[in-house]
Amino acid sequence: MNKRSKLEKRQGVYYPTKEFKKQAWINNKSIYRKGAWSTKRFWDKLARDLVWIKKWRRTFVHKPPYFKWFVDGQLNITESALDRHLEKRRNKVALIWEPEPIEESLSVDRQGQRVFTYYELSREVNKFANALKKMGVRKGDRVGIYLPMIPEAIISMLACARIGAVHVVVFSAFSSHALKIRLQDTKAKVLITADGYFRRGNIIDLKKSADAGLKQTEVEKVVVVKRAENKVKMSKKDFWWHDLIKDQSNVCEPTAMDSEDMLFILYTSGSTGKPKGCVHTCGGYAVQAHYTAKWIFDLKISDVFWSTADIGWITGHTYSCYGPLLNGATFVIYEGSPDYPEPDRWCKIIEKYGVSIFYTAPTAVRMFEKYGKRFIEKHNINTLRLLGSVGEPIDEAAWNWYFKEIGNSRCPLVDTWWQTETGGILITSLPGIGPFKPCFTGIPFPGMRFDVLDDKGKRCLINKEGNLVLRSPFAPGLLRGVYKNHKKYLKTYWTDYGKKIYFTSDRAYRDEKGLIRIVGRADDVIKVAGHRLTTGELESAISLHPDITECAVIGIADEIKGEVPIAFVVSKNKKGKGVIEKEVIVQLRKEIGPIAKPKQVYLVSDLPKTRSGKIMRRVLRKLFTGEDLDDLSTLANAGIVDNSKKIIK
Ligand code: WT7
Repeated sequence: MNKRSKLEKRQGVYYPTKEFKKQAWINNKSIYRKGAWSTKRFWDKLARDLVWIKKWRRTFVHKPPYFKWFVDGQLNITESALDRHLEKRRNKVALIWEPEPIEESLSVDRQGQRVFTYYELSREVNKFANALKKMGVRKGDRVGIYLPMIPEAIISMLACARIGAVHVVVFSAFSSHALKIRLQDTKAKVLITADGYFRRGNIIDLKKSADAGLKQTEVEKVVVVKRAENKVKMSKKDFWWHDLIKDQSNVCEPTAMDSEDMLFILYTSGSTGKPKGCVHTCGGYAVQAHYTAKWIFDLKISDVFWSTADIGWITGHTYSCYGPLLNGATFVIYEGSPDYPEPDRWCKIIEKYGVSIFYTAPTAVRMFEKYGKRFIEKHNINTLRLLGSVGEPIDEAAWNWYFKEIGNSRCPLVDTWWQTETGGILITSLPGIGPFKPCFTGIPFPGMRFDVLDDKGKRCLINKEGNLVLRSPFAPGLLRGVYKNHKKYLKTYWTDYGKKIYFTSDRAYRDEKGLIRIVGRADDVIKVAGHRLTTGELESAISLHPDITECAVIGIADEIKGEVPIAFVVSKNKKGKGVIEKEVIVQLRKEIGPIAKPKQVYLVSDLPKTRSGKIMRRVLRKLFTGEDLDDLSTLANAGIVDNSKKIIK
């Protein structure tokens, strides 16, 4: 491996080396001037780089709180993601799949296919698209995808896009109940799932959860991928994937989609039990996914890009599927846990495929750090040339460890801020420009007009914390609505600062250089290992337990996971403390999934409340952290505090 020099450090922040800068797609600051001068023109120019069936007439139209990009343009995203590469990159590897079982990873290919060239991926997408058509799926129909990280997950999404069906991916570790509400809300008629998958050495019976989730929905047909050779019950509704594609043609004409037609719906936590379906459309999303992936990860033809996010999240959609493919890049997807069967599995994967760009969440970084350097030292991970972080604030210690120990102080570390709603990364320092400053996500992507405002709408001074907002013309990939819920769309994003300013719900501040630091959420969202949950949604799930009369959930800082939920419950039953605690955990697993598992459950006799009956989570938090309880005069039931103290200590 050639020795590459370290990143330059000036005044506590890092800059790319000359060599990195020289080869980067974007290495000149003038890009920010271009973006600022006319955002519309800026994106208009970029959009020309995709394959369009019909050119758009207007770049941006705004009718607050609604807006459109590339109006009257027509395209099919798969033409830019697949077809156009078939000329020059037909035999280039598009997708590399790594199964969890190590024996399988070392053995010959599964059914002959673990690595897909652009041609092979395109062929499989076309075949499955034809199979979906044959099942009666038409343009605009919603299709549920409840799959683990296997190639069929990527193929399914693209096959839907090919025929204009709207994909609704549901994270495979979500419960059957979570699946059900998404299927009901979207009225999906087809669901794609698998017989099972491997996770930490166990076979997870996904088909069983899928079957339970289907009850009381309009799903008529289920496609089942054979992955784990798990014994599953196949009913009249169920069809094996391999049977369906057997006689399908390799050619499926792409359906012409309007720029503003729906590409997918992805649900994210809402404050109540009901999640919000974020609507993303074809044109703007494609343009943003293409350019953010290209410039922020500096994606080149020779790169191997690995984003560890599951396709159940927006990161998986944009950077484990569309972004790399739109750029004709090679990317890795991995089925299992990064530390299974040994803590160095992730290093093994980097070494095995020569991964050059690695994108993960701070939680994973902290976990790797905890396991220790010795696991990294066993492997050659020198192929890395760029690192990325996403999902939650990265603390200084984790930043430094990631940068120094994994990146050997020579890889630009891009901390990337965005949301399910924004469709793609919107704040980060570009790798060929910098600066990279621990804890700061960086500067807005060219053309993005972010601001930090106080409660009255006045811009906050440097280093003063406020609310992070985005001004028109926003971003081409920003959500176009909450599926079938205009009220929620209006209230969540376009009310705090009026209908013309998008409120991110994040708290942030800027430093002297204009670098943005994200402090945390302004609402009840907690980020557990980078996954988004709301305390309200957890409370709704717990309240469904028949014995629980009241409950409150708070998010507490955690060394590894960033934040974790803690639940306080009041029960009308005389069941023992241990029993109730276990039941609450089971309840959350059932309603949401294992990611919702609280770190601790406390059975209390009452919850601290104001005189009007509002639960005071602030008091609970202080009781938990042991901070001084200041003014309790608003508390209606002050006696509770002493009782709770006893329980918590
Ligand atoms: C929320 C969005 C974007 C893909 C994964 C998360 C937090 C996201 C960062 C970052 C600090 C971050 C914000 C945001 N967040 N990235 N780099 N630094 N905080 O998508 O699940 O929709 O969550 O995650 O609070 O609002 P999401």
